[in-house]
Amino acid sequence: MIELSLDNSARSLLKRGIAQLRQADVPSFTLAAELLLLHVLGRNRTWLYAHPEEILSDAEAQRFFGLVARRAAGEPTQHLTGKQEFWGLEFEVTPDVLIPRPETEHVIEVALDRLALRERRAGRPQRSAGEGLQIADIGTGSGCIAIALAKELPAANFLATDISPAALAVAKRNAARHAVADRIDFREANLLSPVGAQHVAPQPGKIANNAPSAVHESPVTSHQSPPFDLIVSNPPYIGRREAPSLPREVRDHEPHAALFAGDEGYELYANLIAQSAAHLKPAGILVLELGHNSLPAVQPLLDAANWTNVGVTNDLAGIPRVLAAERL
Ligand SMILES: C[S@@+](CC[C@H](N)C(=O)[O-])C[C@H]1O[C@@H](n2cnc3c(N)ncnc32)[C@H](O)[C@@H]1O
Repeated sequence: MIELSLDNSARSLLKRGIAQLRQADVPSFTLAAELLLLHVLGRNRTWLYAHPEEILSDAEAQRFFGLVARRAAGEPTQHLTGKQEFWGLEFEVTPDVLIPRPETEHVIEVALDRLALRERRAGRPQRSAGEGLQIADIGTGSGCIAIALAKELPAANFLATDISPAALAVAKRNAARHAVADRIDFREANLLSPVGAQHVAPQPGKIANNAPSAVHESPVTSHQSPPFDLIVSNPPYIGRREAPSLPREVRDHEPHAALFAGDEGYELYANLIAQSAAHLKPAGILVLELGHNSLPAVQPLLDAANWTNVGVTNDLAGIPRVLAAERL
């Protein structure tokens, strides 16, 4: 009895979990074991390190080792815990959505910087609450980009699209969890076109005068949805030819509609940029996340006739990760 209790201390369980995950070649095995144990205990890391001798019940220990076995077999930690932090907020994740990645936070940073710059140019205070702003997030997945921006810009309104109804269901729950559901219109769409509709992108030049008629060419939202001040997107950008080299956690467990856009990976950007040109207000901002090798194929799509102030931001690994531009 005493021995069983000793074996079931948090420290001992963690050590055994770490060893099992290391043996299974799980990346970041220590962190993964910690997160699974904390999930079983419903505790945070501070608690764990303050109470390493805490004895877990046999049922808790069994549950922990069940999760460790699933992680060792390739399931992502986030699918086992059901959550991932992004921009300091906790998001529900399921196998229906891409697990939010840290590099996507650069999309938020660039979008906020560009909006602040626009405010400065207009002689308004830089930190606005986003009054009057209409923002679109294309391929919203878990909703992480739209929701993070909605928290930063508490007066802005959003359209968030995805081709996957299952992803939209998760995104809606995340929006409710973060109390921004009333400002985000979630729509099933192919980029900005209603699903099933053949999207005919209006000629970019046509919208330049921001005429009300252009408003009604607007996608998905058939009612008086004005063109957007900001469009953000982290589209699928991995080439199918790269699939064999992806980690099994990604290839076998994350939705392929969130990962792959074609053989090369950059296939969706041309349509995304054309639709954005058609639906952004003059001086509206486009912010796109890029795949690790997408920049040479994507940057030329921002033609000088429609776009200005094109900028590239590298991620922490030095990879060109975010492409931003302003609609002429
Ligand atoms: C790379 S994930 C990004 C998810 C989320 N925005 C993020 O940053 O974590 C791309 C998302 O785009 C969606 N998607 C793929 N093709 C699409 C399309 N043609 N139109 C709209 N959404 C699409 C996928 O279902 C997926 O949720």
